[in-house]
Amino acid sequence: MIKINNLTKIFKTPNGPVTAANNIQMEVPEGEICVLLGPSGCGKTTTLKMINRIVPPTSGKVFINGEDTSGLDTVSLRRNIGYVIQQIGLFPNMTIEENIVLVPKLLGWESARYKKRALELLDMVALDPSVFLKRYPKELSGGQQQRIGVARALAADPPVMLMDEPFGAIDPINREIIQDEFLKMQKVLNKTIMFVSHDIDEAVKMSNRIAIFKAGELIQYDTPDNILAHPKDEFVKNFVGDDRALKRLRLVNVAQVMEPPIHVLQTDSLSDAFQKMQACGYFHAITLVNKSTQPIGFVTKEATQTRQGQCGEHYIGLKSVISINDDLRKVASKMFTHDITWMPCVDDEGRMVGQITQKGITHYLGATYRRDSYQNPPNESEHIDPSNTTSC
Ligand SMILES: Nc1ncnc2c1ncn2[C@@H]1O[C@H](COP(=O)(O)OP(=O)(O)OP(=O)(O)O)[C@@H](O)[C@H]1O
Ligand SMILES: [Mg+2]
Repeated sequence: MIKINNLTKIFKTPNGPVTAANNIQMEVPEGEICVLLGPSGCGKTTTLKMINRIVPPTSGKVFINGEDTSGLDTVSLRRNIGYVIQQIGLFPNMTIEENIVLVPKLLGWESARYKKRALELLDMVALDPSVFLKRYPKELSGGQQQRIGVARALAADPPVMLMDEPFGAIDPINREIIQDEFLKMQKVLNKTIMFVSHDIDEAVKMSNRIAIFKAGELIQYDTPDNILAHPKDEFVKNFVGDDRALKRLRLVNVAQVMEPPIHVLQTDSLSDAFQKMQACGYFHAITLVNKSTQPIGFVTKEATQTRQGQCGEHYIGLKSVISINDDLRKVASKMFTHDITWMPCVDDEGRMVGQITQKGITHYLGATYRRDSYQNPPNESEHIDPSNTTSC
């Protein structure tokens, strides 16, 4: 856990004092990622550097796992904190391998162990060890160097990481890949991380909490969903953008919003399908599944009322299904692409385990605004009335 108590940095400059960070107060619980976000010059790097005392604070304290770090010597403090600096900072006269294994070597690891670690880390940042291990930093692109910077900070497996715009120079496609790899690693390793970013999308994706800075002040420190749904003031509102409600889509998984599955088999009669739809209040259509419960089509209510026979003879092919592991951005994207308002949700084996509707999504995301406007929190277990949410 990182706890920052009234941390202030005032730089003395020929033009007078500059307050880079003013009375910053925050706590990052163990195993969480906190993203420091804000415009250039607002004090993100200064705050980060006060944690490992590369910048000595003017006043205030930093505690790591309850220990006041002002009592620790800077060498042992920095060895226990992984640090990715904003300017990458690889040593130009060392190979990539030597750069990565620097701290493990200082810590006295055996060579077989640190060499293996270098291979693992290059894999993690999606660079081929056989190509890059023996190269020098100047033989790598800026984005590749940045990935080595991340690998180097992770090398000795420190419990606390400070990362200053670690993916800033990487192209959008590789950045997504590395962010995903990093989050996968974080699930296993559970590090406590402070991460600086300029980019609200990156912050929403990577963080458990976001700290929004403005001119050396911490303006709002909250979960990504609260920052997006309830920005504290005009500055935060403008910073997170007009599409903040859409950005919330990334934070919610299909499994959180889907409703129980209702389906028919090919051998079911149309009148059975009609009865099922009546019973659950679904107005327009019902999903058809095969014997393995994999969705293959849908039967319209109109067909159940105007035709006779089995569902397998009267269904229409599905345009799309969605995995329960996907987020609502993907759902919205598929709905817009295929001009549909509902989709069956499938598990890893492609079996239907629920269905998601546009109205269900709106209802789910709207809960926080309703709480806000009525000051009357609904019960967490409030159920969604299917008759009000399905428009097939
Ligand atoms: N060594 C220094 N001496 C004087 N002023 C400094 C020093 N380091 C930073 N500052 C000033 O402190 C303020 C905060 O700088 P900081 O580097 O923390 O910003 P930042 O939020 O990380 O910005 P960026 O997003 O551009 O990296 C700026 O006004 C900067 O000019
Ligand atoms: Mg900075």
